[in-house]
Amino acid sequence: MESSPKIPVHTYTVDLEPIGRRIAVEPGTNLLSAAQRAGVDLVAACGGVGICGTCLVRLVAGTLTPPTMTEEEELGTERISSGYRMACQAEPLSDVRLDIPPESLPVAQKMQVEGRENAFVLQPAVIPVDLALSPPELEDLRSDLTRSSQALEERGMPPLQGDLAAISALSEELRAHDWQVRLAIRQNDNHSQLVAVLPPGTPLLGLAVDMGSTKLALYLIDLNSGATLASTGVMNPQIAYGEDVVSRIAFANKSENNHRLLQTRLVDTLNEVIHTLCVQAGKRPAEIVEAVMVGNTAMHHFFCGLPVTQLGASPYIPAVTQPLLIKAIEVGLNIASSGSVYLPANIAGYVGADHTAALLASRANQDGRTFVLVDIGTNTEISLAHGEQIFTCSTASGPAFEGAHIRDGMRAAPGAIERVTIAGGEVQTVTIGGLAPVGLCGTGILTAISEMLQNDVLDMRGVFDRSADRVRTVDKRAEFVLVPADKTGHGRDVVVTRKDVHEIQLAKGAIRAGIGVLLDEANITVEDVDEWVIAGAFGTYLDLASAQQVGMFPAVPLDRFQQVGNAAGVGAKEMLLSNQKRDESLGMIGRVQYVELTIYPDFTQRFVDAMYF
Ligand code: FES
Repeated sequence: MESSPKIPVHTYTVDLEPIGRRIAVEPGTNLLSAAQRAGVDLVAACGGVGICGTCLVRLVAGTLTPPTMTEEEELGTERISSGYRMACQAEPLSDVRLDIPPESLPVAQKMQVEGRENAFVLQPAVIPVDLALSPPELEDLRSDLTRSSQALEERGMPPLQGDLAAISALSEELRAHDWQVRLAIRQNDNHSQLVAVLPPGTPLLGLAVDMGSTKLALYLIDLNSGATLASTGVMNPQIAYGEDVVSRIAFANKSENNHRLLQTRLVDTLNEVIHTLCVQAGKRPAEIVEAVMVGNTAMHHFFCGLPVTQLGASPYIPAVTQPLLIKAIEVGLNIASSGSVYLPANIAGYVGADHTAALLASRANQDGRTFVLVDIGTNTEISLAHGEQIFTCSTASGPAFEGAHIRDGMRAAPGAIERVTIAGGEVQTVTIGGLAPVGLCGTGILTAISEMLQNDVLDMRGVFDRSADRVRTVDKRAEFVLVPADKTGHGRDVVVTRKDVHEIQLAKGAIRAGIGVLLDEANITVEDVDEWVIAGAFGTYLDLASAQQVGMFPAVPLDRFQQVGNAAGVGAKEMLLSNQKRDESLGMIGRVQYVELTIYPDFTQRFVDAMYF
């Protein structure tokens, strides 16, 4: 039978500059998908739904589909006529060349990984045991495992067990090192679990990871000394599929492939960073015998490959809240082949083990202080520890503090305005890296609004005084020109719009209303709180006075506030280094009373009230 002639599939080439990647795509493929396929992760805060405007690209050559209504609304005619388009909305109609502006690339951002550390006794779950065995001979035909196990039992330890990978390594390493090896052993009640077999004297390493929705913080730790040998923060690659976990869950729900993609992109990035950290420290991933991973509940589920559909819809049920100890190999994490991953307990669908870790690091289980812990992110978790109780809630503060949904918003990357002062009509800005401004990061927009309030450019409802200096009206809407085009890095004005102000009102209102609910649940007032602990990367750079000025936090003396950095990362390290800390975290979770704000009787009214400045 004659085969029918093949119809050639027509493709267009998409050239991505200045990165220098190029990909051929079929007609109907939008630019965001094209970039993703080319391995270029554009920021896509809404996951490609078309509502965030963060996936900005500029057409340099070629033809695209006409701008959609969404693009016209979000970008305005001026930007569209300069070639700017939203990658998730536009499709090529010819070969095209695109320029990717720096703010669309999730790289080179301030990456806070450090946090306030505490002293505690080291008691890691995996310990080293050095063996020097007599080699087998015809009169001693014991197997390698039996020979090693009996050596342990002679020291009063339970018998040795191992999986196939560990037993293989045992046989090979015993012979490679003349019957002297260091075993990495997980101690259980009735057996010693063989985790790794290493050359004698090799220090055992651990890995602590805080998997934030935006950023991954990794710490390579010496389990013997507790020292951090290397650490780094990188962007969460899942950001290309949606900035917040809700968008990512929606993405995962579209297909099993998407669900898998979120897990593999995450684990691939973790493995790349593990490799880099090991090179920096002169170590090998095979020496990492255990990892502790914390993250919000969705990140936890994505990492484990657990279903997330039920997390994305009311009543937001996690597949599991109990702590898990899983084999690293099951999730593809490249550490010792028989190494494990400990995932501490989640608290609720929207309060994950990262908050458990932050509470642990904040010593919520000690000393009877009344304190509020606020871990600010796209989702903000708040806990109030008072007496024996810990009240916890989660509030959708949104990605505005990450610069998303803000007209000239960007992440904390070079050129982002991070501080604003207005005096006598003069506006001064400070940017990250001292570059010419190209946008505003979260702290920048917050200080800008605080200054506008103090200078009566804005009123308490968030409405502009249209007669004030630098306030102009565009398409009937007022906006404040923070930096005029001739002083910016991209030749466009950097402005604060009424919508930007509203976004910040929503974010700070959600946090303040959440705090109010917890205080009422504990039946105390702001004056009764001894300490306000502000955690998270944004919280680290936050100007507290501005945060009080806009009403995010109550006006209590500033010395009651502590900015502790990445408390979740610190808590993860503690649980890596101490079994006792794992137990403490469980005891602490037993005291948590989770307050679901979405059904809290007057939460909507509290939220609306808290939006006022
Ligand atoms: S608008 Fe394109 S990803 Fe959000």
